[in-house]
Amino acid sequence: MKILWFMFLELLSSALSLDNGLALTPPMGWLTWQRFRCITDCKKYPEECISESLIKRTTDIMAKEGYLAAGYNYVVIDDCWLEKKRDANNRMVADRQRFPSGIKALADYVHGKGLKLGIYQDYGTKTCAGYPGVLGYEEIDVKTFAEWDVDYIKLDGCNVDPSKYDTGYPAFGKLLNETGRPIVYSCSWPAYQDNPNYSSIAKYCNLWRNYEDIDDSWASVKNIMQWFAENQDELVRYAGPGHWNDPDMLVIGNFGLSLDQARVQMAVWSILAAPLLMSVDLATIRPEFKEVLLNEDVIAVNQDPLGKQGMRVWTGSDCEIWNRELADGSYAIAFVSLREDGAPFTLEASFDDMKISKKIYKVKDLYNDEKTTFCDIQGKFETRINPTGVRFYKFTPICI
Ligand code: GLA
Repeated sequence: MKILWFMFLELLSSALSLDNGLALTPPMGWLTWQRFRCITDCKKYPEECISESLIKRTTDIMAKEGYLAAGYNYVVIDDCWLEKKRDANNRMVADRQRFPSGIKALADYVHGKGLKLGIYQDYGTKTCAGYPGVLGYEEIDVKTFAEWDVDYIKLDGCNVDPSKYDTGYPAFGKLLNETGRPIVYSCSWPAYQDNPNYSSIAKYCNLWRNYEDIDDSWASVKNIMQWFAENQDELVRYAGPGHWNDPDMLVIGNFGLSLDQARVQMAVWSILAAPLLMSVDLATIRPEFKEVLLNEDVIAVNQDPLGKQGMRVWTGSDCEIWNRELADGSYAIAFVSLREDGAPFTLEASFDDMKISKKIYKVKDLYNDEKTTFCDIQGKFETRINPTGVRFYKFTPICI
């Protein structure tokens, strides 16, 4: 009897949990927010306003210029896409000036180029920028998104009491499931709570924002890295195929990061098994930043099928070592320097520092500045890191 009861509960819980088969590796794509925020004046800023033309332009570039081929397949409209009022039937309406063809037509366009469309909403009465939220309209909104053929929803948590999330986010996810349309579910649930219930969050969401919004600065990237390192013992166990911690967008290619700092963000986000959501003007991005975003060896670390989130394993001399175990038995190891004192810094790391077992390794530089070398069990591994920069390697054990 006990067993039957247990089986019933298991069945019930799997029917209620998010089991959409999506995001088996961290989602990759592009999101409007960090670069384009809430620019709505298309007369003054025609190239930058949140509009169907920005989405189409970005979709075209992603399809043509190698981003889609590298794995970036979601193009996501963040806040500020709605009219301030719902229509007579309480349905959401996209801004009539900026999205004259409507979201369904835009989804068709994006799908026609081989990409998928994501969109932002908020679990509260209003979005963070003050547009109508879903609270009280959940059923009609989910139905509308499914009719529009949307593939990804980012559900934010402004303008509602955070104690409502624990039931509200799962209920919204259940509605998404019931549409029968595969829709990636990105939650902001834990970002607004003091003690989030991560086992529940990981059960109902494909990805979730844990912490503060990223800004276009090295200080912000560093702060997020530190928060994830400090909370890693708790966080890593919730990441895996279908459910990921989200340290927020990549700010690579904008105004605030140097090339070295951009490489740090890309390397650490890959170690963290983080969603890779670019937020940059792909029409004007400089080639060296594009190269960072399209680095296939680094992306392969991020998308590693084992889906194990890595950790910061060592700190010292104002440097950090980050390590992620990969499906083929290799380790992705990033040596990050937070130092700002001039010349590149030489760091010597032992096997213990790197948290790898004593073996002989082939060591490949994932940013391709150095030749592949071998690291043997006798010595220490020595590397030289630029100020606020990274050396990022794949350590593959070799048999002798
Ligand atoms: C919050 C989110 C951001 C962005 C804005 C939009 O701050 O964390 O990522 O979606 O809202 O208003």
